[in-house]
Amino acid sequence: MGQKLQGKIAYITGASQGIGRATAIALAQEGVHVGLIARQESKLNDVVKEVEQYGVNAEIGIVDISDLEAVDQTIKNLVSRLGQPDILINNAGTATSGKLAESDPGEWKRTFDVNVFGMYHVTRSVLPYMMEDNIGDIINISSSSGLKGTSGMSAYCASKFAVQGMSESLMQEVRPYNIRVFTMNPSLVATELPFGDKLEDENDPDKYMQPEDLAEYMVAQLKLNQRIFIKQSLQWATNPF
Ligand SMILES: NC(=O)c1ccc[n+]([C@@H]2O[C@H](COP(=O)([O-])OP(=O)(O)OC[C@H]3O[C@@H](n4cnc5c(N)ncnc54)[C@H](OP(=O)(O)O)[C@@H]3O)[C@@H](O)[C@H]2O)c1
Repeated sequence: MGQKLQGKIAYITGASQGIGRATAIALAQEGVHVGLIARQESKLNDVVKEVEQYGVNAEIGIVDISDLEAVDQTIKNLVSRLGQPDILINNAGTATSGKLAESDPGEWKRTFDVNVFGMYHVTRSVLPYMMEDNIGDIINISSSSGLKGTSGMSAYCASKFAVQGMSESLMQEVRPYNIRVFTMNPSLVATELPFGDKLEDENDPDKYMQPEDLAEYMVAQLKLNQRIFIKQSLQWATNPF
């Protein structure tokens, strides 16, 4: 038999929009209290209003996850306002495109600062609480671009490959603490990240995976019996052609 999520506490990075926002709503519908982390305060407050409809507690942490000290402070604040995290959804991410030869070094580095160092900072701040409790769940969102390089996406692909390595090592380190590390590798999901300001015009729900699909998958993973976890998974659209 699986487990109920009701009453647990989840911290979600990148909760202001896209997959993170959908996940916050899906978890709240299961009775999970949520700590919502991102930079855009007004969007986070909109998500708070949405999730509070389901009777859960919600707190926001406004932070750029590339800043180690600010992340540490944000997590401490969330712990005092919401409680210690049972679940961490490492979802915040950024993407840049363009051929490596023509790339902007600052943008290339920034992609790593957010996608790799950001995930490292948040995980590092959250882990002591889970290790103290001797239980926890961490979902790391990598990408199909973390398994296969594509032309014009070197910074994003390299950062997501790095997420794979970090996640695999972390998974091995924390299993003895009953902490499950799930790594997800979605292909294209209809959010601003791939579509930018063309999202509304180009989103075709019959063709593309939606943020809610990923959220539903995460909830299902978290409900698995404590003795099992999905180390790696790939999410593909059935017929995007
Ligand atoms: N959409 C896809 O096709 C796809 C496919 C595979 C994997 N993914 C991965 O899925 C994750 C979520 O992406 P999405 O598609 O939902 O994109 P999105 O709509 O652009 O959302 C990205 C989220 O990350 C947050 N974020 C970005 N930089 C941040 C920073 N420095 N500090 C804190 N928060 C930051 C953003 O919030 P603020 O702007 O408020 O900070 C936003 O909430 C990413 O890791 C992405 O790489 C997406």
